[in-house]
Amino acid sequence: MFDLILTSANLPDGRRGVDIAVKDGRIAAIEPGITAEARERIDAANRLVSTPFVDPHFHMDATLSLGLPRMNRSGTLLEGIALWGELKPMLTREALVERALRYCDLAIAQGLLAIRSHVDVSEPRLVTVEALLEVREKIAPFIDLQLVAFPQDGYFRAPGAAAALERALDMGVDIVGGIPHFERTMEEGAASVKALCRIAAERGLRVDMHCDETDDPMSRHVETLAAETVRHGLQGRVAGSHLTSMHSMDNYYVSKLIPLMAEAELHVIPNPLINITLQGRHDTYPRRRGMTRVPELMAAGINVAYGHDCVMDPWYSLGSGDMLEVAHMAIHAAQMTSRQAMRASFDAITVNSARAMGLEGYGLAVGSNADLVLLQAEDPIEAIRLKATRLAVIRRGRVIARAEPRLSRLDLDGRTATVDPAAYAPHAGEGGD
Ligand code: FE2
Repeated sequence: MFDLILTSANLPDGRRGVDIAVKDGRIAAIEPGITAEARERIDAANRLVSTPFVDPHFHMDATLSLGLPRMNRSGTLLEGIALWGELKPMLTREALVERALRYCDLAIAQGLLAIRSHVDVSEPRLVTVEALLEVREKIAPFIDLQLVAFPQDGYFRAPGAAAALERALDMGVDIVGGIPHFERTMEEGAASVKALCRIAAERGLRVDMHCDETDDPMSRHVETLAAETVRHGLQGRVAGSHLTSMHSMDNYYVSKLIPLMAEAELHVIPNPLINITLQGRHDTYPRRRGMTRVPELMAAGINVAYGHDCVMDPWYSLGSGDMLEVAHMAIHAAQMTSRQAMRASFDAITVNSARAMGLEGYGLAVGSNADLVLLQAEDPIEAIRLKATRLAVIRRGRVIARAEPRLSRLDLDGRTATVDPAAYAPHAGEGGD
C-alpha cells in the first residue's frame, strides 16, 4: 500500500505518462501503469510533474520591504545598498520573521521548496541573523533554507564586518559569503576573497560570493575565487553569484577565465531579473544587458543555476517567488531560444540549483525525497512559456499546496468557449530537439 500515486505524469526528462508511487516520504517507484493500492491518487493527466523549484540566491532579510523607508529612485545597485542601509537600524526581529515567513508561503504556493538566502551581517546587532535562523527552523518541514553570511557593506570596508561574519557563522549560518567588488580597492577585494575562502576551508563550509556584480570589465575577482577554491581543495563547494562583469569582459580574457572556473568546479549563479534591471545603468546606447555568459559557461560544463535574488525590496520592485519567471527572463536576456537551451533553463531552476546548494535527496528517482510539483503544462518549455499554474505541491509525499487550473470562459456574441492556456502545443516540425 503506497501513500500516494501520481498517475500519467510527464517528466522533465521527456518520459511521458508514467506513474510515480510514494511511500514514507520517498519516491518508491517510477514506471508506467502502477496498479498497487494507495491512500491517495492524483491524476496528472499527461501534465508535467517536476522536482520542486530551487532558488540558490535570495535575500530573505530584505524581501517584502519595498517602500521602507522610501523607493529606490535611480534604480541602481548602489542606491539599493544605501537604501537598505537606511532601513537597517529600524529592523526588528519580529518584523523580519513576519516578512520572511510571508514570503515562504508565497514560495511554497509556487512550488519553490529550497532557497539559499544571503543574510546581511553588516548590521551590527545581527538581528537579521537571529531572525533568519528562527525562520530556517520554523520553515524546515516545508522549505530547505540555507543561509549565507553576507557582508553587504564590505568585509574590509565596513568596520566590524569581519568579526560579525565569524559571529554569524558561530551562531549557525551555513555558508561564507562576500562582496569583493564593493571593497575599497581591487587589492582589498582580492584579499577579501582569500580571507573568506580560508575561513570556509578552516570551518569546512561552502562559499557563495556576490562576485563582480558590476559592468566594469576589469572586475576580475572571479579569477581569485577560482584560484583560492583550488588552493583550498574546495572544488564543487564554491559558487560565484552574479558575475555580471563577465558580460563586459574582453573575449580573449574570458577564453582563459572559463577553463579556470571549470577547473575549480565553480557553480555560477546568475540572477537574470536583477542583472538585466540593475546593470547597464550608466550606459547610453547600446545598453548592456549585464547577465553573465550563460551559454558559454554551460558549454564548458560549468553548473549554472538561476537565482531570483530579490522580491519587492530596495533593489527590485517586482517578483513573486516564481522561478519560471526567472528562467523566462534568462531565455530572453541570453537569447537561449533553441528547444534544448530552453530545457536547460528549466534545469537551471531545478536540478542545477539543487546541485549548487548541495541538496541531498533531491531528484526524480527511486529513493529520493517525494518532493514534487504538478504543473498545468505538458513539458518544461510550456511551463516556462506560461509560468504555469502549480496544481499541486508535494513535500515528503504530502500535498501542501493546491491550485485550480487557470481557465478562462469566453462569451463571444453567442459563441462560448473555455480557454486553457496549456492547450496550444507546437507542431512537430523538424529541429524539435
Ligand atoms: Fe544578491
